[in-house]
Amino acid sequence: MASSLSRVLWCCAALTASADAVELTSLVNLFIGTGSSGNAFPGSYLVCSVSFSLTCDAGAAIPHAMAKVGIDVSTAPRQAGYLHDNSSITGISLMHNEGTGGNSDGGYGIFPLFPLIDCSFASCPVDINVRAALRANNTDAATPGYFTSTFVNNIKLETTSTRRAGLIRFTYPTTGPNFVVIDLTNDLGRSFSGGTLSIAPAGRVQLSGTFLQSYGLSNYTAFACYDFTPPQGSQPISQFGTYQSTTLTSPNNITITPETTNLNFPFTATVSPEQAGALISFTNTKTVVARFGVSMISSEQACSNAEEEVPDWDFDAVQSASASAWEDVLERVTIDTTTEDPTVVELLYSSLYRASLVPANFSGENPYWDSPYAFWDEFFCSWDTFRTVHPLLSILDPVEWAQIINAYVDGWRHTGYIPECRAETQPGYVQGGDDGMVPVGDFAVKYGSRASELGVPIDDLYQALVDTAENTPPDWYTIGRQNTAWKTFNYIPTNWVDPSGSVGLPTREGSRALEYAVGDFAVRQAAIALNQSPDDIAKYSNRSMNFVNMWDPNVTSDGYSGFIQRRYTNGTFAFSDPTACSPVNDDFSCARGTDNDIGFYESSSWEYSFFAPQSMSTVIKLMGGPDTFVPRVDHYFAAGYYYAGNEPGFAMPFAYNYANRPDLTSLRVRNVVYTQFSAGIDGIPGNDDSGAMASLLVFDILGLYPVPASKQLLVGSPLLSAFTLRNDFLGTSTSFTVTGFDKTGLSATPPAGAAVYVKSIKINGAAAASLCWINWDDVVGGGTVEIEVYGDATAAAAAGCGDGPNALPDSLETGGFSPTGGFD
Ligand SMILES: *[C@@H]1O[C@H](CO)[C@@H](O)[C@H](O)[C@H]1NC(C)=O
Ligand SMILES: *[C@@H]1O[C@H](CO)[C@@H](O)[C@H](O)[C@H]1NC(C)=O
Ligand SMILES: *[C@@H]1O[C@H](CO)[C@@H](O)[C@H](O)[C@H]1NC(C)=O
Ligand SMILES: *[C@@H]1O[C@H](CO)[C@@H](O)[C@H](O)[C@H]1NC(C)=O
Ligand SMILES: *[C@@H]1O[C@H](CO)[C@@H](O)[C@H](O)[C@H]1NC(C)=O
Ligand SMILES: *[C@@H]1O[C@H](CO)[C@@H](O)[C@H](O)[C@H]1NC(C)=O
Ligand SMILES: *[C@@H]1O[C@H](CO)[C@@H](O)[C@H](O)[C@H]1NC(C)=O
Ligand SMILES: *[C@@H]1O[C@H](CO)[C@@H](O)[C@H](O)[C@H]1NC(C)=O
Repeated sequence: MASSLSRVLWCCAALTASADAVELTSLVNLFIGTGSSGNAFPGSYLVCSVSFSLTCDAGAAIPHAMAKVGIDVSTAPRQAGYLHDNSSITGISLMHNEGTGGNSDGGYGIFPLFPLIDCSFASCPVDINVRAALRANNTDAATPGYFTSTFVNNIKLETTSTRRAGLIRFTYPTTGPNFVVIDLTNDLGRSFSGGTLSIAPAGRVQLSGTFLQSYGLSNYTAFACYDFTPPQGSQPISQFGTYQSTTLTSPNNITITPETTNLNFPFTATVSPEQAGALISFTNTKTVVARFGVSMISSEQACSNAEEEVPDWDFDAVQSASASAWEDVLERVTIDTTTEDPTVVELLYSSLYRASLVPANFSGENPYWDSPYAFWDEFFCSWDTFRTVHPLLSILDPVEWAQIINAYVDGWRHTGYIPECRAETQPGYVQGGDDGMVPVGDFAVKYGSRASELGVPIDDLYQALVDTAENTPPDWYTIGRQNTAWKTFNYIPTNWVDPSGSVGLPTREGSRALEYAVGDFAVRQAAIALNQSPDDIAKYSNRSMNFVNMWDPNVTSDGYSGFIQRRYTNGTFAFSDPTACSPVNDDFSCARGTDNDIGFYESSSWEYSFFAPQSMSTVIKLMGGPDTFVPRVDHYFAAGYYYAGNEPGFAMPFAYNYANRPDLTSLRVRNVVYTQFSAGIDGIPGNDDSGAMASLLVFDILGLYPVPASKQLLVGSPLLSAFTLRNDFLGTSTSFTVTGFDKTGLSATPPAGAAVYVKSIKINGAAAASLCWINWDDVVGGGTVEIEVYGDATAAAAAGCGDGPNALPDSLETGGFSPTGGFD
């Protein structure tokens, strides 16, 4: 482990001591991204949404938990339920998404509680619109595992949770009577389509409800169990009953019926406006604690989850168990928190926190099939997470990652395809490729030889990749890819009627082709790692290069020639303005609608034309060589075509490494970090997208950027003077030091002479092959990585990636990622 190893080294003694002294959870700012632009979840998780519109959420959760309990605001957008603003609160609900886009009303937000005072039972304001209340100023507070706020009427709320259960505590200003509403019907999306509620005299309320998923066409059914009688007694129930809309034509006219115990609303084909739930009153107590459990199986299971995970209702014990689970996650990256730059420290640990909220461990909660494998969900969406979330898991969290990969493979086992955007247990919309292929292939590359120790059946994994690469589902808008088109044309044609009868959303041809090529590259990489047949390797190597078939050399924009464009079945290209859907020209439909006729998803041709991480040398060649490529990347940033807030731009600051200019990468990454990110509530440039932004920022801080489905990581220039990465499965702690580290370089535009350029890299004392990339084996190898930095910009530009034969990062076209030497 890191600490015992480094204790023997004088250089790291101080580091170890201080890391031990500081609780890393105290460094997490849970409110980053909870303003209008992050969709993050405070308290215990943070949530933000897709693309050009942004919002975030706050609550309490353990790492990768199914339960994410937090407050919900009345105003949209509120993808994660929470906003750090002055919106009124409609409830404290049990599950949330993390930083996603999709429906701006949000996902989950199911079975909220709400505290009331100063009413008489049959006329209490249970209606969601009437009960909504403001928070007192500056009372929201959160640490990992805990969230609190106080309403203007002085009712304080506190939450903490376990994987599938938790506690919600209300402290009222007087001993009552005090009331709690248990809302059956209002999820965040107001999408109730049937459900039940029952109250048992012993103070147990069981609920089931069917709601629409927030990003897809399906519904899901969830269950909850609330208990209101703690073993300590002391919380006497004075009255209970149910409420419901008097008629569905005026659903806000609500009747409260004392002493009733059951509600039953049959499934409806359309969303019901019904308002219904339970009301309970308590006397002689200022404090009311509710224990909850959630389940996707049954309300009985929700009750047993609560009994199992929160047996003695000990709020402090649950909170401290959650905090220590977080401490364990955060400790996988250690630094000297007392000497590193405080903003970098806060951003690092806050980002590590947000990167570990989803995917979520739904083990035991698979409503559809029995399986020996852990069930994980909230892959919302692989399009967002394949770039940075999964690669960070590969370095720090191999056990979690193996279970997540197994869940992808198990998805294939039961549907025939690797899931892409499964969330709320249902398939969501496929945005581009079936990008779940990328982490699955990446796992084979990184842990293929030890897969059985991690419980991953590797032959199944490979078959899942091949089936997803070869077969076409009846509807490739929910899973899989349009492989009929991809295999017939070697590109994705415009206006083609698929003779197979398979359907999907036919737009986004350019970006889909680019992502299909990366997906095929993931199969190719897995085939090599797993010693599959030379035929497979050749086939998928070949298909990895098919992105070139959508390259129109004749299109010019701002003086630069050659862009990815839509293409008809007869081979003729269809023109769209390459700036369309860039931040400076978003007067187009750029999303999933059938009216998106530019060929790209949530991005422009200007941006997507750079996206071929498997063969960037080809992109440089098509763009006219390094001397055109470098100014073209510069122009892309200068002209405003870069959008920091969405995933297609993630790799761009590192693109210079492929043109032998890592000095420009060092400057660009700093510029992006210090102009786009901060520790404020609007500190994320876009939706956190299930931790995508968070994990990107971790990589930016560490000075690394992962190449998809490969062991290569591009090198930037760290924003820390030293850090240690711990991998518990491999039993390693890898220590990075930055010799000559210069804090004056921690700015958007480092002053001339600031030591931000990489001069040399030594791995375990020996010179590395390149200044531009490092092998994943060395990042998790348990040795030392010494990066020397200097401030001589001219020398750094001349030195480039170094002199060695493999100095440039790999590209398929120039023999990189080779099965016989070089990279595998
Ligand atoms: C809430 O804040 C917004 C923006 O600061 C402001 O315009 C609005 O008046 C505030 N509303 C209330 C109820 O305080
Ligand atoms: C919060 O503070 C602002 C500014 O002082 C004030 O206008 C507003 O009424 C306060 N809101 C509440 C809910 O107390
Ligand atoms: C609500 O429903 C009750 C019972 O049907 C009725 O008497 C009352 O007039 C309704 N109130 C409103 C505001 O519609
Ligand atoms: C929920 O989805 C199932 C499967 O798609 C469908 O059969 C059912 O009608 C839907 N129910 C509701 C209430 O929307
Ligand atoms: C996921 O939950 C299951 C069931 O509790 C547990 O066995 C498994 O270890 C969990 N996974 C992780 C990575 O904690
Ligand atoms: C891929 O295979 C096709 C058909 O055999 C061939 O025409 C094409 O040149 C190959 N592409 C590459 C990049 O090797
Ligand atoms: C590009 O333009 C040239 C000259 O007009 C033409 O010959 C060529 O076919 C065009 N290429 C494509 C791919 O359209
Ligand atoms: C190819 O098809 C497109 C769309 O139907 C058409 O506009 C174009 O003229 C065709 N090109 C040729 C060379 O026939």
